[in-house]
Amino acid sequence: MARLELIVLLVTFTTCLVRAEDGFLKEPPDYIKECRIADKDFVNCSTHSIQQLFDKLNDGIPGLTSIRSFDPFYLNRIRITQGNSNAINLKVELANVKIIGFGHTNVLDSQVFKKDYSWKTTFTLPEMKLQADYSLFGRILLIPLNGKGQVFLDAENMTVTMHTKTRLYSKGGFTFYNVTNLHVDFKMDGLKSYFSNLFNGNKQLEDSTNKFFNDNWRMLADALYTVITQTIEDILLDVLKKIFHFIPANFFVSDIPTPEQLYGRAKPKPK
Ligand SMILES: *[C@@H]1O[C@H](CO)[C@@H](O)[C@H](O)[C@H]1NC(C)=O
Ligand SMILES: *[C@@H]1O[C@H](CO)[C@@H](O)[C@H](O)[C@H]1NC(C)=O
Ligand SMILES: *[C@@H]1O[C@H](CO)[C@@H](O)[C@H](O)[C@H]1NC(C)=O
Repeated sequence: MARLELIVLLVTFTTCLVRAEDGFLKEPPDYIKECRIADKDFVNCSTHSIQQLFDKLNDGIPGLTSIRSFDPFYLNRIRITQGNSNAINLKVELANVKIIGFGHTNVLDSQVFKKDYSWKTTFTLPEMKLQADYSLFGRILLIPLNGKGQVFLDAENMTVTMHTKTRLYSKGGFTFYNVTNLHVDFKMDGLKSYFSNLFNGNKQLEDSTNKFFNDNWRMLADALYTVITQTIEDILLDVLKKIFHFIPANFFVSDIPTPEQLYGRAKPKPK
């Protein structure tokens, strides 16, 4: 009898351990507002809910240790080859990238589409600063460049529209979002930039080119469009994947279907 109790205790204990390792929330946290997609005010509700999530990300989501820091956010490397026109023909590599500003995200609109549970999210970043080691080969605004140094970018009032694809899956009796793809567009009100060592130490040419970039910031923003979108996409995809493997989708959309309800039952595999 005592032995049976011991076994039961062990089994319970092991189950607890496994649950802890699974690493996902089982109770709705107080920092998320649950919304019903069937309700008329869903978009307004969801907008507030996602804002609360971003606010919480700043202090860190309890239990989610894989996101070490959101603001500043660190990326090891970004590599981009873009364009083949006269204005843009560029190979850029950024390393040791530090991005400041995602902690002040203002969510303007958060839509979720019932058809496939993809999202369209619009938000503003009053300020986004990027600092990195760069190497650059090609042309920006017709200027031939071949340099390595440090870059500083400071984007003002960015408005970002994010299109996210998801695939629903089941875990522990909940429905989860698998964030599979993310694409952003942006516009901004200003871009300050500084590239050190643009011409291997020719300070005069470096200064005049940096001044030229700042005077023509809209053209520079266009030239760096892919670099900037790629940076934002890399950050958000990484962060959102981690969040939504950790927090059930049910805690955001209480009436979300199960994957079976949305996609239909999986057909038995042919032998
Ligand atoms: C939008 O949601 C907020 C917070 O839930 C609420 O205070 C506000 O009244 C809502 N606005 C509209 C127009 O429904
Ligand atoms: C999520 O999607 C990726 C493909 O984008 C797939 O490799 C992965 O297994 C999926 N994860 C889950 C938990 O469904
Ligand atoms: C950014 O937006 C704020 C608030 O709308 C505005 O006061 C400021 O002038 C804008 N900055 C630029 C560079 O337009």
